[in-house]
Amino acid sequence: MDFKRDFPMLNKDLIYFDNGATTFKPKCVIDAVTDYYTNYTANAHRGDYNISLKVDMAYEDVRDKVKEFINAKHREEIIFTSGATDSLNMIATGFFENIIESEDEILISDSEHASNVLPWFRLANKKGAVIRYVPLDSTFYITIDNVIKAVTPRTKLIALAAVTNVVGDVRPIKEICEFAHKNNIFVVVDGAQSVPHKKTDVQDMDADFLVFSAHKMCGPTGVGVLYGKKELLENLEPINLGGGMNESFDNEKQIYLKELPTRLEAGTPNIAGVIGLGAAIDYLNKVGMDNITIKEAQLKHYLIEKLTKISHVDIINPECDSGIVAFNIDGIFPQDVAVYLDKYNICVRAGNHCAKILKKAIGVKNTVRVSLYFYNTFDEIDALVELLKDKEKILKEMI
Ligand code: ALA
Repeated sequence: MDFKRDFPMLNKDLIYFDNGATTFKPKCVIDAVTDYYTNYTANAHRGDYNISLKVDMAYEDVRDKVKEFINAKHREEIIFTSGATDSLNMIATGFFENIIESEDEILISDSEHASNVLPWFRLANKKGAVIRYVPLDSTFYITIDNVIKAVTPRTKLIALAAVTNVVGDVRPIKEICEFAHKNNIFVVVDGAQSVPHKKTDVQDMDADFLVFSAHKMCGPTGVGVLYGKKELLENLEPINLGGGMNESFDNEKQIYLKELPTRLEAGTPNIAGVIGLGAAIDYLNKVGMDNITIKEAQLKHYLIEKLTKISHVDIINPECDSGIVAFNIDGIFPQDVAVYLDKYNICVRAGNHCAKILKKAIGVKNTVRVSLYFYNTFDEIDALVELLKDKEKILKEMI
């Protein structure tokens, strides 16, 4: 496929290695959003006229696409949110606040993104629950053995990313779910860095909840998905009350809610975003999720092989099996490396990447992160490596 033809941003004088933060959007996604705004703007689920019905169909059609994309059992299990962060907050507040009791334990890890830490901290503070951490192994992986060791009779919930955003480790989610469910423990999976990069099958992994964001998978910003098993979503209390989600209400303060999924989508949804997500899914399916995984693995191997040969580059996660590579240059502050690369129009992310408790495990507070996607090329990696090779040049140009 000709990615340069498909992605307008690939025709700029840029090398983009910050796909963990957000991805470029193919023209078909931009066109789908523009088409909605240009040709059939109307609200969803409210009108009795033609374009409004067209909106309803387009919006609900995306629900079916997402259902297929992650192999959910029911379309009602797909809730549109503003993103993975919104989804996790809804799950923590709307579901687990009614479940977690004082002294109960919530198991997370040091490498979780803030979105999969802070909602649990708030919940634990509110309910007097305990946050525990699955120990990472020497390569910053989570093993099923370490999960088993960290579980106690008080563990109610395990909340982990399927792939983390700094060290890029792929977690054994299926095994974790199997063990957790045998022990009556819920599992929440942050799929923000996994769903865009590999085939996802929620029935096979058997997660109770899975969240992800459209903008990290070629879709628009401001839209994401909360997947939950139907019987659990039935008990997820809506955080937002308002139009669209209620059947009726009366002067006696009685509220009658609609069924799933509408019950959890109060107010006018991000219609353009959802339509864009649908186009993104079509595009990813056209590229092929397996092809995406394979291409990223090839790029990652190539990058690691090249970086390993540079003595002043310290790769934090040389063993990782996703397209996320974190490193430091001996004696140079990561942000300075990012600014140096930016002079050559290479975009990388530097800092703690919102994983602020990971520093204990990896021994450094900040790193430079290259996060790859299928449209990156070996030539782009060559250009990056060439610039990183010469430490004197970096030092000279920094000053
Ligand atoms: N979570 C995004 C990242 O890792 C923003 O860069």
